[in-house]
Formats: sequence, C-alpha cells, structure tokens
Amino acid sequence: MSVDPAKDAAGRAAAALVEDGMRLGLGTGSTVDRFLVALAERGLDVAGVPTSRATEQRCAELGVRLLHPAEVAQLDLVVDGADELTSDLVLTKGGGGALLREKVVAAMGARFVVIATVDKLVPRLGDTFAVPVEVVPFALAPVRRELEQEGLEVRERTHADGASYRTDNGNAILDVRLDGGLEDPEQADVWLTMLPGVVTSGIFTDLATDALLGAADGRVETLSRPVR
Ligand code: A5P
Repeated sequence: MSVDPAKDAAGRAAAALVEDGMRLGLGTGSTVDRFLVALAERGLDVAGVPTSRATEQRCAELGVRLLHPAEVAQLDLVVDGADELTSDLVLTKGGGGALLREKVVAAMGARFVVIATVDKLVPRLGDTFAVPVEVVPFALAPVRRELEQEGLEVRERTHADGASYRTDNGNAILDVRLDGGLEDPEQADVWLTMLPGVVTSGIFTDLATDALLGAADGRVETLSRPVR
C-alpha cells in the first residue's frame, strides 16, 4: 500500500509527542494508521483506548497494547483524524463511521491532537463534507423526516452493494448536507443530538487542543488552543 506523505508526516509528528507510560486515545482512519505505525516503531511502554474495531485490529497487528474506557479515568493524549477542521479547532468527523466512540474517547483526553492533511482546513465546516449523524435504527425514519422538514439534504449511509451501513455500535448513519455549511457548529450539534433517536453528531466542538497538519513535502503546521 502506498504511503501518503502528508498523512505520514502528521502521524509521525503526533507519535513524537508520546512519552513512556502514557495512556492514549487511539483514533480511526488512514492518518491514524500512520500514527499507529510510527508509535509501534518507537517501542514505548504505552496503552490506548481504541475508537473502532478497525483500530483495535490494527493495534493487535502492530503490538500496541489496548485499554477499555473502564480501566482509565483520563487519557494523557488522544490522537485522531478529522474530515474537516476550522482554525479554532472545531471539527467534523465520522467519515469512517467511528464518530461515537471517537467523541467518547476525545472527551476523556487531557490533550486531543488532531492529525490531518492541510487541505482539510476549511473556512467553514460542512462546506466540502456532509455531517454524519449516528441514529438508532428504530428512529431512522422520524429523524430523517425531521431533518428534511428543515430543508436539509439527508442520505442514509450504505455499503457499496447498497446494504445498510451499521456502526460498531449497531447504529445507522445519516449524512446531512447543510447548504452553505455550518453557521454555528455548536448550536447545530446541540440541535442534532436533541432529536430523539440521535446518538451523536460528527461535529466536535471544544474538544481538540491541537492540530498537526501535514503537507505533501513533509512539513507539518501546528495549530493550538489553551488546554482545558
Ligand atoms: C472516522 O470515523 C473519522 O472520524 C476519521 O477520523 C476521519 O474520517 C479521518 O479519516 P482519514 O484520516 O482517513 O481521512
């Protein structure tokens, strides 16, 4: 498999932040994969809470020790990707369907470092990427109606063969497109998650503390905000 140099640069920069003994949050996706490879190469004594079965499996292959959320009160460092982010470190996530566990793990982090390629930095969220919303299957139709009544374009996520997509938690995903993007991400997240049957949205506000943005030439740009 060919390695994307921009993802590799961001993943390696995040792996360099890890110290011996740390308890980590391990995100999901192709950029996180580069982080996991670089982390395993360092051979540190660390363990992490995975945010998906895919990450769990990858860690098993690479020999990264796993933890369950019940085993640790706070994580020293959470590293995860994003689908889009703005310079104030508000994100959309869930392109890989792992948004719920990703949000749970992000909230456990003393520090949450986002790793992404520079092109994911956008002036406004929702511009290029629909917002994933995780919904319990029983509530799919009413939630969909509610969103469509607001004039939103809604698509249920499916597999390539048309079969219904289900998350690691057994839920469905509605990808919601907002014309012109998200004016107020925090308000949109609150509104979405208040709809009965919605488990979470892929809008992550007030969680990320830093972002490491990799470029194709191997350079990494850092964005930070004060630690919570
Ligand atoms: C998984 O559900 C997502 O939130 C990923 O973290 C996000 O889609 C970024 O993935 P890539 O690093 O593969 O672009």
